[in-house]
Amino acid sequence: MGPTSALILIALLGLAEGSSLHHSDDRSSRLSLEKTFGRLVKDSQCQHMLKHLHNGARITVQMPPNVEGHWVSTSCEVRPGPEFLTRSYIFYSNNTFQAYQFYYEDNHCTRSTYTLVIRGRLRLRQASWIIRGGTEAEYHLHRVQMVCHTATVAKELSQRLNRSCRGAVKGPWEPNVIHELWSEEGGYDCSRELNFTMHELQLLRVEKQYLHHNLDHLVEELFLGDIHTEPSQRLYYKPSSYQTALQNAKNHDHGCIACRIILRSDEFHPPILPPRADLTVGLYGQWVSQRCEVRPEVLFLTRHFIFHDKNHTWEGHYYHYSDPVCKHPTFTIYARGRYSRGLHSTQVMGGTEFVFKVNHMRVTPMDLATTSLLNVFNGNECGVQGSWQIGVEQDVTVTNGCVALGIRLPHTEYELFRMEQDAHGRYLLYNGQRPSDGSSPDRPERRATSYQMPLVQCSANSQTTDFSRADGSDRTLSQHNDCRGRHRGGHKHVTVALVAFVMCLLLCWQS
Ligand SMILES: *[C@@H]1O[C@H](CO)[C@@H](O)[C@H](O)[C@H]1NC(C)=O
Ligand SMILES: *[C@@H]1O[C@H](CO)[C@@H](O)[C@H](O)[C@H]1NC(C)=O
Ligand SMILES: *[C@@H]1O[C@H](CO)[C@@H](O)[C@H](O)[C@H]1NC(C)=O
Ligand SMILES: *[C@@H]1O[C@H](CO)[C@@H](O)[C@H](O)[C@H]1NC(C)=O
Repeated sequence: MGPTSALILIALLGLAEGSSLHHSDDRSSRLSLEKTFGRLVKDSQCQHMLKHLHNGARITVQMPPNVEGHWVSTSCEVRPGPEFLTRSYIFYSNNTFQAYQFYYEDNHCTRSTYTLVIRGRLRLRQASWIIRGGTEAEYHLHRVQMVCHTATVAKELSQRLNRSCRGAVKGPWEPNVIHELWSEEGGYDCSRELNFTMHELQLLRVEKQYLHHNLDHLVEELFLGDIHTEPSQRLYYKPSSYQTALQNAKNHDHGCIACRIILRSDEFHPPILPPRADLTVGLYGQWVSQRCEVRPEVLFLTRHFIFHDKNHTWEGHYYHYSDPVCKHPTFTIYARGRYSRGLHSTQVMGGTEFVFKVNHMRVTPMDLATTSLLNVFNGNECGVQGSWQIGVEQDVTVTNGCVALGIRLPHTEYELFRMEQDAHGRYLLYNGQRPSDGSSPDRPERRATSYQMPLVQCSANSQTTDFSRADGSDRTLSQHNDCRGRHRGGHKHVTVALVAFVMCLLLCWQS
């Protein structure tokens, strides 16, 4: 999707947001949301958690963001490729920065390979037109240096770089020595060979959050632009979503052990995170988003997944919004189908492959704009033509999905999952990052090599009427004994199709 269409889409979503005034205040939209859950409002743990996000209650966003300070990764991060890394970025008051990227062999970041030290200058620009709630920035590099941490890596990298940037590699490299990859003065660019870029600095967002409703416990997070899922596209990609957030060294989650280790590290002492075992991915129970999520190309959403491991079926609720705190609903999708477990990924250490099928889908437009768009669409290809109403769900299974949504049923996706326990012992479920080009991983070779933001387990029970847990237990979740060995997980996709959908609607509408 090009910039022009992105702008049109923004206009559409802006329209959508305005139009929510016509039919609903927050309360009534929440009510209809709950109705789409299919039951009356006895809060289950899962709905309770989602509602907190719907209200945007926990988070404040700083605009323009103040990025000054020291920011670190909270865990071992996975980038498309895959690449395993941790980051430690310092932004100074004179607008310069020094960024460390520590790279590893393994998915728990215990065996470091090399470190990049990147220095430059950052200038914030205007609020983003592409991603509401984000701020655009420009950066300028001063120098990029590399330190290899083992003799093998040093030898390998110096050979590789010697091929592409002659003149830079003078003799074989030694470990623990600084080498110049690029500098303003130098006549070569060895960073290209690594497809290195700092375009992530072109999109920023700072969020403040009080953890556990505790005013003494402030956590500040810095979101930087996403990395294209296709390594060869990285150099040309302008971020349209975010990576996993970094946390501020002064205000980080006290349970974050990785943060403290990374904070103390430098290019000669790369962080070595504590070794941990890979958890076996077990898809069962219910899982929800931990925050209002952003998808590339302007979609804000929250997700709720239910896995029935006995018969290998799943259900997913996708709540879409027009705004970055997920307050103004635009439409929701309910999808269900079957899934099957594959093998451990040979490409992505720590990942497990799955195949998901969608064979049933319902759509609910939640605002005037989306309703009109669905009604404008011709043909009997997305529910009953012209019959869409705000807040009224329609089954689109009979029309083989929704052409307008870009979703044809049955639909198959090739997925990658992993599971983890966070610092508070809660189970997190990661599924594959959506391809940055807006396509769908509908073939095995399109399977992701990195992950989306994790979902958190909200119930070990897959029955949706989960009245057992009263309110107030909020985030202290489910450390059931029975999940020691297995673990829960799950969930999935569809949204990118929606972008295609909204786009198609727009273009069809205009022509
Ligand atoms: C900016 O500030 C940092 C830290 O105080 C300092 O190391 C650096 O030299 C300064 N850069 C410029 C261009 O003034
Ligand atoms: C770099 O390449 C040149 C020419 O192929 C070769 O002579 C030299 O030994 C190489 N240096 C390293 C460090 O690999
Ligand atoms: C960099 O991109 C090229 C394609 O442009 C690709 O062949 C190569 O594998 C990439 N290198 C890395 C380290 O990802
Ligand atoms: C699978 O199991 C769940 C929960 O036991 C049930 O609600 C659902 O209808 C079953 N689905 C199929 C296709 O059998």
